[in-house]
Amino acid sequence: MASAGLLLAGGCGHAAKKDARTAGGTAGRQMAARQRPAPPPVTQKPPPPKPVDCDHVKCVALTFDDGPGPYTGRLLDTLKAHDAHATFFMLGENVHPFSGLVRRMVVEGHEVANHSWSHPQLTALSPAAVRSQVKRTQDAIATASGGVRPTLMRPPYGATNKQVGHAVAMPLIMWSVDTLDWRYRNAARNARVGVNEPKRGGIVLFHDIHKPSVDSIPKVLEGLKRRGFTFVTVSELFRGKPLKPGQSYSESVPPAPPAAPSSPAPGSPTPTPSTPETGAPTTAPPGTSAPESPTPSPGASTPSTPAPGSPAPESTTTGPPGGSVPR
Ligand code: NI
Repeated sequence: MASAGLLLAGGCGHAAKKDARTAGGTAGRQMAARQRPAPPPVTQKPPPPKPVDCDHVKCVALTFDDGPGPYTGRLLDTLKAHDAHATFFMLGENVHPFSGLVRRMVVEGHEVANHSWSHPQLTALSPAAVRSQVKRTQDAIATASGGVRPTLMRPPYGATNKQVGHAVAMPLIMWSVDTLDWRYRNAARNARVGVNEPKRGGIVLFHDIHKPSVDSIPKVLEGLKRRGFTFVTVSELFRGKPLKPGQSYSESVPPAPPAAPSSPAPGSPTPTPSTPETGAPTTAPPGTSAPESPTPSPGASTPSTPAPGSPAPESTTTGPPGGSVPR
Protein backbone atom coordinates (compact mmCIF):
# COMPACT_ATOMS: atom_id res chain seq x y z
CA MET A 1 0.00 0.00 0.00
CA ALA A 2 2.71 2.39 1.02
CA SER A 3 4.79 1.53 -2.02
CA ALA A 4 1.76 2.01 -4.30
CA GLY A 5 1.17 5.41 -2.66
CA LEU A 6 4.75 6.50 -3.28
CA LEU A 7 4.52 5.45 -6.88
CA LEU A 8 1.35 7.46 -7.33
CA ALA A 9 2.88 10.42 -5.55
CA GLY A 10 5.52 10.65 -8.25
CA GLY A 11 2.83 11.77 -10.70
CA CYS A 12 0.56 14.78 -10.69
CA GLY A 13 -0.94 16.71 -7.80
CA HIS A 14 -4.05 14.59 -7.91
CA ALA A 15 -1.93 11.51 -7.20
CA ALA A 16 -0.25 13.29 -4.27
CA LYS A 17 -3.70 14.05 -2.85
CA LYS A 18 -4.67 10.42 -3.18
CA ASP A 19 -1.44 9.44 -1.42
CA ALA A 20 -2.25 11.75 1.49
CA ARG A 21 -5.70 10.21 1.76
CA THR A 22 -4.51 6.63 1.54
CA ALA A 23 -1.33 6.91 3.62
CA GLY A 24 -3.18 8.98 6.23
CA GLY A 25 -1.68 10.76 9.25
CA THR A 26 0.80 13.64 9.52
CA ALA A 27 3.55 11.91 7.58
CA GLY A 28 1.30 11.53 4.58
CA ARG A 29 0.26 15.17 4.62
CA GLN A 30 3.87 16.31 4.92
CA MET A 31 4.83 14.16 1.99
CA ALA A 32 1.99 15.67 -0.02
CA ALA A 33 3.18 19.16 0.86
CA ARG A 34 6.72 18.36 -0.23
CA GLN A 35 5.55 16.93 -3.51
CA ARG A 36 3.10 19.71 -4.42
CA PRO A 37 4.22 21.39 -7.65
CA ALA A 38 6.24 24.58 -7.12
CA PRO A 39 4.28 27.81 -7.63
CA PRO A 40 4.77 29.38 -11.05
CA PRO A 41 7.61 31.92 -11.25
CA VAL A 42 6.65 35.56 -10.72
CA THR A 43 6.41 37.12 -14.12
CA GLN A 44 4.58 40.33 -13.21
CA LYS A 45 6.67 43.42 -13.92
CA PRO A 46 7.05 46.08 -11.24
CA PRO A 47 4.57 48.92 -11.67
CA PRO A 48 5.80 51.92 -13.68
CA PRO A 49 7.19 54.75 -11.60
CA LYS A 50 4.55 57.01 -10.16
CA PRO A 51 4.11 60.15 -12.24
CA VAL A 52 5.56 63.26 -10.70
CA ASP A 53 3.02 65.67 -9.23
CA CYS A 54 4.48 69.09 -9.99
CA ASP A 55 1.88 70.74 -7.74
CA HIS A 56 3.76 69.21 -4.82
CA VAL A 57 7.23 68.64 -6.21
CA LYS A 58 9.61 71.39 -7.29
CA CYS A 59 9.70 70.73 -11.03
CA VAL A 60 11.61 72.26 -13.90
CA ALA A 61 11.49 71.35 -17.59
CA LEU A 62 14.77 71.51 -19.48
CA THR A 63 14.23 71.90 -23.22
CA PHE A 64 16.70 71.50 -26.08
CA ASP A 65 16.07 73.11 -29.46
CA ASP A 66 17.18 72.80 -33.07
CA GLY A 67 18.64 69.27 -32.88
CA PRO A 68 19.26 66.53 -32.94
CA GLY A 69 22.93 66.97 -33.72
CA PRO A 70 26.41 65.58 -33.17
CA TYR A 71 26.37 66.35 -29.41
CA THR A 72 22.89 65.03 -28.66
CA GLY A 73 24.10 61.50 -27.91
CA ARG A 74 26.45 62.81 -25.24
CA LEU A 75 23.63 64.91 -23.82
CA LEU A 76 21.45 61.80 -23.57
CA ASP A 77 24.29 60.04 -21.71
CA THR A 78 24.45 62.93 -19.23
CA LEU A 79 20.69 63.02 -18.71
CA LYS A 80 20.63 59.26 -18.16
CA ALA A 81 23.42 59.45 -15.60
CA HIS A 82 21.37 62.00 -13.63
CA ASP A 83 18.04 60.21 -14.15
CA ALA A 84 16.72 63.43 -15.70
CA HIS A 85 14.04 63.74 -18.37
CA ALA A 86 14.01 66.57 -20.89
CA THR A 87 12.08 67.73 -23.94
CA PHE A 88 13.61 67.95 -27.40
CA PHE A 89 12.10 70.46 -29.83
CA MET A 90 13.55 69.13 -33.02
CA LEU A 91 13.88 70.34 -36.58
CA GLY A 92 12.39 67.89 -39.04
CA GLU A 93 15.37 68.27 -41.37
CA ASN A 94 17.72 67.06 -38.60
CA VAL A 95 15.66 64.05 -37.62
CA HIS A 96 16.58 61.55 -40.32
CA PRO A 97 20.38 61.88 -39.99
CA PHE A 98 20.05 61.19 -36.25
CA SER A 99 17.00 58.94 -36.21
CA GLY A 100 18.67 56.50 -33.80
CA LEU A 101 18.93 59.28 -31.23
CA VAL A 102 15.25 60.16 -31.66
CA ARG A 103 14.34 56.56 -30.93
CA ARG A 104 16.63 56.62 -27.91
CA MET A 105 14.97 59.79 -26.58
CA VAL A 106 11.62 58.03 -26.52
CA VAL A 107 12.98 54.83 -25.00
CA GLU A 108 14.75 56.77 -22.25
CA GLY A 109 11.67 58.75 -21.21
CA HIS A 110 12.27 62.08 -22.89
CA GLU A 111 9.63 64.01 -24.78
CA VAL A 112 10.00 64.53 -28.51
CA ALA A 113 8.46 67.74 -29.82
CA ASN A 114 8.13 69.79 -32.98
CA HIS A 115 10.23 72.87 -33.79
CA SER A 116 9.29 73.12 -37.52
CA TRP A 117 11.09 71.53 -40.45
CA SER A 118 13.72 74.14 -41.29
CA HIS A 119 13.42 76.91 -38.64
CA PRO A 120 11.62 79.63 -40.60
CA GLN A 121 9.86 82.52 -38.95
CA LEU A 122 6.34 81.14 -39.08
CA THR A 123 4.70 84.57 -38.92
CA ALA A 124 6.17 85.27 -42.38
CA LEU A 125 4.68 82.16 -43.95
CA SER A 126 1.26 81.37 -45.38
CA PRO A 127 -0.95 79.11 -43.27
CA ALA A 128 -0.43 76.31 -45.79
CA ALA A 129 3.34 76.66 -45.50
CA VAL A 130 3.11 76.63 -41.69
CA ARG A 131 1.01 73.47 -41.80
CA SER A 132 3.55 71.85 -44.11
CA GLN A 133 6.45 72.76 -41.77
CA VAL A 134 4.60 71.17 -38.87
CA LYS A 135 3.30 68.07 -40.63
CA ARG A 136 6.56 67.08 -42.31
CA THR A 137 8.26 67.27 -38.92
CA GLN A 138 5.50 65.30 -37.20
CA ASP A 139 5.88 62.57 -39.81
CA ALA A 140 9.68 62.52 -39.57
CA ILE A 141 9.63 62.25 -35.77
CA ALA A 142 6.94 59.57 -35.82
CA THR A 143 8.95 57.50 -38.32
CA ALA A 144 12.24 57.88 -36.42
CA SER A 145 10.76 57.30 -32.97
CA GLY A 146 8.76 54.21 -33.82
CA GLY A 147 5.36 55.84 -33.93
CA VAL A 148 5.41 58.64 -31.36
CA ARG A 149 3.74 61.80 -32.70
CA PRO A 150 4.64 64.96 -30.78
CA THR A 151 1.83 66.86 -29.06
CA LEU A 152 3.78 70.08 -28.48
CA MET A 153 5.26 72.67 -30.83
CA ARG A 154 7.73 75.49 -30.28
CA PRO A 155 7.71 78.09 -33.06
CA PRO A 156 11.22 79.18 -34.12
CA TYR A 157 12.24 82.44 -32.40
CA GLY A 158 9.06 82.18 -30.34
CA ALA A 159 7.41 84.01 -33.22
CA THR A 160 3.70 83.42 -33.35
CA ASN A 161 0.37 85.14 -33.79
CA LYS A 162 -3.24 84.11 -34.07
CA GLN A 163 -2.88 82.88 -37.63
CA VAL A 164 0.21 80.80 -36.82
CA GLY A 165 -1.46 79.35 -33.74
CA HIS A 166 -4.46 78.34 -35.79
CA ALA A 167 -2.31 76.73 -38.51
CA VAL A 168 -0.06 74.87 -36.07
CA ALA A 169 -3.08 73.59 -34.11
CA MET A 170 -0.92 72.35 -31.23
CA PRO A 171 -0.05 73.99 -27.89
CA LEU A 172 2.86 76.42 -28.41
CA ILE A 173 5.55 76.00 -25.77
CA MET A 174 7.73 79.04 -25.06
CA TRP A 175 10.13 79.34 -22.11
CA SER A 176 10.59 81.17 -18.82
CA VAL A 177 14.40 81.13 -18.91
CA ASP A 178 16.31 81.84 -22.09
CA THR A 179 19.90 80.85 -21.36
CA LEU A 180 21.03 82.59 -24.58
CA ASP A 181 23.46 79.71 -24.94
CA TRP A 182 23.33 80.06 -28.72
CA ARG A 183 24.80 83.54 -28.43
CA TYR A 184 27.46 83.19 -25.74
CA ARG A 185 28.73 79.65 -26.46
CA ASN A 186 30.39 79.52 -23.06
CA ALA A 187 29.86 76.42 -20.91
CA ALA A 188 30.70 78.11 -17.59
CA ARG A 189 28.30 80.96 -18.28
CA ASN A 190 25.58 78.60 -19.50
CA ALA A 191 25.94 76.57 -16.32
CA ARG A 192 25.70 79.66 -14.11
CA VAL A 193 22.54 80.91 -15.83
CA GLY A 194 21.08 77.42 -16.07
CA VAL A 195 21.54 76.79 -12.36
CA ASN A 196 20.60 80.20 -10.95
CA GLU A 197 17.65 81.40 -13.02
CA PRO A 198 15.06 78.62 -13.11
CA LYS A 199 12.10 78.93 -10.81
CA ARG A 200 9.63 76.26 -9.84
CA GLY A 201 7.44 75.28 -12.78
CA GLY A 202 9.82 76.91 -15.23
CA ILE A 203 10.78 75.96 -18.76
CA VAL A 204 14.47 76.43 -19.59
CA LEU A 205 15.73 76.87 -23.13
CA PHE A 206 19.01 75.36 -24.34
CA HIS A 207 20.25 74.29 -27.78
CA ASP A 208 21.81 70.83 -28.07
CA ILE A 209 23.42 71.68 -31.43
CA HIS A 210 26.10 73.74 -29.64
CA LYS A 211 28.98 71.98 -27.89
CA PRO A 212 29.33 74.45 -24.98
CA SER A 213 25.62 74.01 -24.26
CA VAL A 214 25.95 70.26 -23.96
CA ASP A 215 29.19 70.71 -21.99
CA SER A 216 27.32 72.80 -19.43
CA ILE A 217 24.55 70.30 -18.69
CA PRO A 218 26.32 68.16 -16.05
CA LYS A 219 26.83 71.28 -13.92
CA VAL A 220 23.30 72.51 -14.65
CA LEU A 221 21.82 69.20 -13.49
CA GLU A 222 23.97 69.04 -10.38
CA GLY A 223 23.23 72.66 -9.44
CA LEU A 224 19.49 72.39 -9.99
CA LYS A 225 19.39 69.11 -8.08
CA ARG A 226 21.12 70.87 -5.18
CA ARG A 227 18.37 73.49 -5.36
CA GLY A 228 15.83 70.72 -4.97
CA PHE A 229 14.51 70.50 -8.52
CA THR A 230 13.04 67.44 -10.20
CA PHE A 231 13.56 67.26 -13.96
CA VAL A 232 10.40 66.60 -15.95
CA THR A 233 9.27 66.80 -19.54
CA VAL A 234 7.02 69.66 -20.60
CA SER A 235 3.99 67.37 -20.73
CA GLU A 236 4.80 66.09 -17.24
CA LEU A 237 5.12 69.69 -16.06
CA PHE A 238 1.57 70.44 -17.26
CA ARG A 239 0.06 67.10 -16.23
CA GLY A 240 -3.56 67.62 -15.21
CA LYS A 241 -3.63 71.05 -16.83
CA PRO A 242 -4.98 70.66 -20.36
CA LEU A 243 -3.16 72.76 -22.94
CA LYS A 244 -5.10 74.36 -25.78
CA PRO A 245 -4.04 74.17 -29.44
CA GLY A 246 -2.64 77.45 -30.73
CA GLN A 247 -2.20 78.89 -27.24
CA SER A 248 1.25 79.87 -25.88
CA TYR A 249 2.66 78.63 -22.55
CA SER A 250 5.91 79.67 -20.90
CA GLU A 251 5.72 78.04 -17.46
CA SER A 252 3.44 76.13 -15.13
CA VAL A 253 2.99 77.89 -11.84
CA PRO A 254 2.00 75.57 -9.01
CA PRO A 255 -0.80 76.60 -6.66
CA ALA A 256 0.16 78.85 -3.77
CA PRO A 257 0.76 76.95 -0.53
CA PRO A 258 -2.08 77.15 1.99
CA ALA A 259 -1.96 80.26 4.17
CA ALA A 260 -0.13 79.74 7.45
CA PRO A 261 -2.25 79.90 10.62
CA SER A 262 -2.32 83.40 12.09
CA SER A 263 -1.05 82.32 15.48
CA PRO A 264 0.93 79.22 16.39
CA ALA A 265 -0.73 76.59 18.50
CA PRO A 266 0.42 76.51 22.13
CA GLY A 267 3.64 74.60 22.47
CA SER A 268 4.36 74.57 18.78
CA PRO A 269 7.77 75.70 17.63
CA THR A 270 8.31 79.22 16.43
CA PRO A 271 7.54 79.30 12.75
CA THR A 272 10.51 80.03 10.57
CA PRO A 273 10.12 82.63 7.86
CA SER A 274 9.25 81.09 4.57
CA THR A 275 11.98 80.93 2.01
CA PRO A 276 11.54 81.67 -1.67
CA GLU A 277 10.98 78.84 -4.13
CA THR A 278 8.42 77.09 -1.97
CA GLY A 279 5.82 77.32 -4.66
CA ALA A 280 4.71 80.91 -4.42
CA PRO A 281 3.90 82.25 -7.85
CA THR A 282 6.63 84.36 -9.29
CA THR A 283 5.83 87.97 -9.91
CA ALA A 284 8.88 89.07 -11.85
CA PRO A 285 8.50 88.80 -15.62
CA PRO A 286 10.39 85.78 -16.90
CA GLY A 287 13.77 86.53 -18.35
CA THR A 288 14.29 89.86 -16.64
CA SER A 289 16.59 88.47 -13.97
CA ALA A 290 19.29 87.70 -16.49
CA PRO A 291 21.90 90.40 -16.05
CA GLU A 292 23.69 89.16 -19.11
CA SER A 293 20.64 89.16 -21.33
CA PRO A 294 21.10 92.02 -23.77
CA THR A 295 17.58 91.49 -25.05
CA PRO A 296 14.48 90.37 -23.26
CA SER A 297 13.18 86.92 -23.95
CA PRO A 298 9.78 86.67 -25.57
CA GLY A 299 8.38 85.81 -22.16
CA ALA A 300 9.55 89.18 -20.85
CA SER A 301 6.53 90.82 -22.41
CA THR A 302 4.39 88.83 -20.01
CA PRO A 303 3.60 91.28 -17.25
CA SER A 304 2.74 88.79 -14.57
CA THR A 305 2.50 85.13 -13.98
CA PRO A 306 -0.82 83.61 -14.99
CA ALA A 307 -2.78 81.18 -12.90
CA PRO A 308 -1.56 77.59 -12.87
CA GLY A 309 -1.82 76.02 -16.26
CA SER A 310 -3.40 79.06 -17.79
CA PRO A 311 -2.03 80.13 -21.13
CA ALA A 312 0.34 83.02 -21.56
CA PRO A 313 -1.31 86.06 -23.11
CA GLU A 314 -1.45 86.03 -26.87
CA SER A 315 1.97 86.97 -28.09
CA THR A 316 2.23 89.89 -30.40
CA THR A 317 5.71 88.92 -31.44
CA THR A 318 6.16 89.25 -35.14
CA GLY A 319 9.85 88.56 -35.41
CA PRO A 320 12.82 87.10 -33.62
CA PRO A 321 13.26 88.61 -30.16
CA GLY A 322 15.98 91.18 -30.35
CA GLY A 323 16.30 90.57 -34.04
CA SER A 324 18.90 87.87 -33.45
CA VAL A 325 18.95 84.43 -34.95
CA PRO A 326 19.22 81.70 -32.33
CA ARG A 327 20.71 78.95 -34.47
NI1 NI B 1 15.25 77.23 -32.66
